[in-house]
Amino acid sequence: MSAVLADETSGAPLSAMMREGSRLEHTEAESSSFMAELLSGRVNQQGYADYLLRLRRVYAALEEVGHDLATTDPIVAAVHDESLERLAAIDADLELWAPGADGGVESDAADAYVARIEATRSWGGLYAAHHYTRYLGDLSGGQAIGRILDRDFELDGDGVAFYEFSEIPKPKPYKDGYRARLDALDLDPAEKLRVVEEVRVAFGLNQALFEELGARLESYRR
Ligand code: HEM
Repeated sequence: MSAVLADETSGAPLSAMMREGSRLEHTEAESSSFMAELLSGRVNQQGYADYLLRLRRVYAALEEVGHDLATTDPIVAAVHDESLERLAAIDADLELWAPGADGGVESDAADAYVARIEATRSWGGLYAAHHYTRYLGDLSGGQAIGRILDRDFELDGDGVAFYEFSEIPKPKPYKDGYRARLDALDLDPAEKLRVVEEVRVAFGLNQALFEELGARLESYRR
């Protein structure tokens, strides 16, 4: 366990614990075969469409639960921000990547991810862990993924709305503010650890999505 996590009583900022606590999982996600192939320009339209269709289910759940809890749960209120929402952007992108798709893809990995997000209704700290894992990732490495897709598929900006946050022109100050809001939450050490554990779970669920897609790489070759 890293120093920042082991020292539970030091009052390490929650955001630092979340980042440190998921460092290994982050590296694993970055090096998953599906991501690596996608970023090398070797995944075709069907492959990226299948990824987006899974993300659609994840964000539909994330954004529905967020809406439901933001007005009643102070932890959810601290992270909830409609300018982050991705569902409309995913739908716009799907018109290019999977024209005519109804959005209801069958996927065990997406089923498991959605069920876990639904279960965060029991405590806002769990929801915040999922919110952080997706949206801070989208505002970080996600930005590079969007640029690579745009270049490889010569999209000229079409089909990559998922990576564009029109109301957040500068991710860095936004992420700093987001972390400050997490750090201002009044959580005890055990609660903070529970949040960090759920971040790990969230990364694992993303990893499972990548593995599901990775198993089909042969049919996704460009
Ligand atoms: C190839 C894929 C990926 C690349 C290249 C990548 C790259 C990065 C980079 C460079 C940062 C640091 C940005 C900064 O310091 O502001 C970052 C942060 C982050 N990434 Fe990724 N990432 C990838 C995949 C993922 C995935 C799959 C997830 C989770 C679903 C994720 C979640 C996060 C989170 C939550 C952060 C914020 C860490 C923090 O500052 O607290 N990333 N990523």
